[in-house]
Amino acid sequence: DMDELVARVKRAKEQKEVVSIAFEGNIVDVWERFDKENIFVDFGSDQTSLHNPWAGGYYPAGLSFEESNQMMAEQPELFKEKVRDSLRRQAAAINKHTARGTYFFDYGNAFLLEASRAGADVMAENGIDFKYPSYVQDIMGPLFFDFGFGPFRWVCTSGNPDDLDITDKIASDVMEELMQQAPEDIRSQMADNINWIKGARANKLVVGSQARILYADASGRIKIAAEFNKAIKEGRISAPVVLGRDHHDVSGTDSPFRETSNIYDGSKFTADMAIQNVIGDSFRGATWVSIHNGGGVGWGEVINGGFGMLLDGSDDADRRLKSMLFWDVNNGITRRSWARNKGAMTAIQRAMEENPDLKITLPNLADDDLVNRYF
Ligand SMILES: NC(=O)c1ccc[n+]([C@@H]2O[C@H](COP(=O)([O-])OP(=O)(O)OC[C@H]3O[C@@H](n4cnc5c(N)ncnc54)[C@H](O)[C@@H]3O)[C@@H](O)[C@H]2O)c1
Repeated sequence: DMDELVARVKRAKEQKEVVSIAFEGNIVDVWERFDKENIFVDFGSDQTSLHNPWAGGYYPAGLSFEESNQMMAEQPELFKEKVRDSLRRQAAAINKHTARGTYFFDYGNAFLLEASRAGADVMAENGIDFKYPSYVQDIMGPLFFDFGFGPFRWVCTSGNPDDLDITDKIASDVMEELMQQAPEDIRSQMADNINWIKGARANKLVVGSQARILYADASGRIKIAAEFNKAIKEGRISAPVVLGRDHHDVSGTDSPFRETSNIYDGSKFTADMAIQNVIGDSFRGATWVSIHNGGGVGWGEVINGGFGMLLDGSDDADRRLKSMLFWDVNNGITRRSWARNKGAMTAIQRAMEENPDLKITLPNLADDDLVNRYF
């Protein structure tokens, strides 16, 4: 009930309550009503499945769930019009909120992309960019991806939770050790991830495979993987461990509306990095690689390169993991550094100091004022 929602939200705001409220209904109606009621929204985003706008990812305002389902099957062209109308309405309501100071960001669900295609008022003045940032542009890119931090994953093939506990302990010990020498610009990222991995078991996040995700940079991923391999060799972990990572990472994904949206040298519309990653990973010892498309933002909008690597406790696995993980992460940092992303420029210089065989051209920074004076 919308009236009940409005009253409850107003009460929570007045009493400065920290509370989560679920409302079953259409998000467009919520944005519009909150505007009418002068309810100030501090942060806003959209999490409908707009990577799939015409087949149930987005339910237009003004139609019930059942009406939408019927129309998308029987009158698909009319349904598309309803989605576009709804997106224009939604963007107009969001714009009213942001005019009052709401911070709105794209969640990586293709909201701004689809809204722009529907002709909604979401474009920046230059007609190329969106008027709102994606969370990668403002948060994940500069804080994590540019430094090489991304969702490193592992699965214990034994399916035994005791093995997972050992891997958690190894990962947190490695991160704590690395934290001691970590430079200031990545200390808070490391502290967050140590906190996460220490609490992972208590939070009961495993629903099937005994698997974990941990944000780590190149050195962290290599050191953790090498320690896993050693523990398998010594029998402390009872069976092989498979490594992987999400596509939502430093490298491996070319996605101008998400993962590579904070690359501003024009190259975000190319698909080179995903291809280079899988080719490099395959030569350097990945057990399998995959090149695919669609991840998160929709078919045709992104190219993803992924890998799997089996650690079986052998010396060969130790050699392969060091070679492949080094490439897998630093390939993306290199590209980000060529685009003159500050964090990536320092991260790649650090990687070259740690490994003198790595030679990456650093960008020359021009003085924009000087350049502008001549044009
Ligand atoms: N940023 C990230 O890291 C990240 C991670 C996962 C998913 N995503 C993207 O986020 C989107 C959502 O992912 P998900 O897994 O939650 O999808 P989902 O399909 O499980 O959930 C989307 C929900 O939105 C509801 N919905 C659709 N239109 C609506 C409307 N107008 N009003 C209210 N509710 C509406 C749907 O009924 C559904 O319950 C996807 O596009 C996905 O690709 C982003």
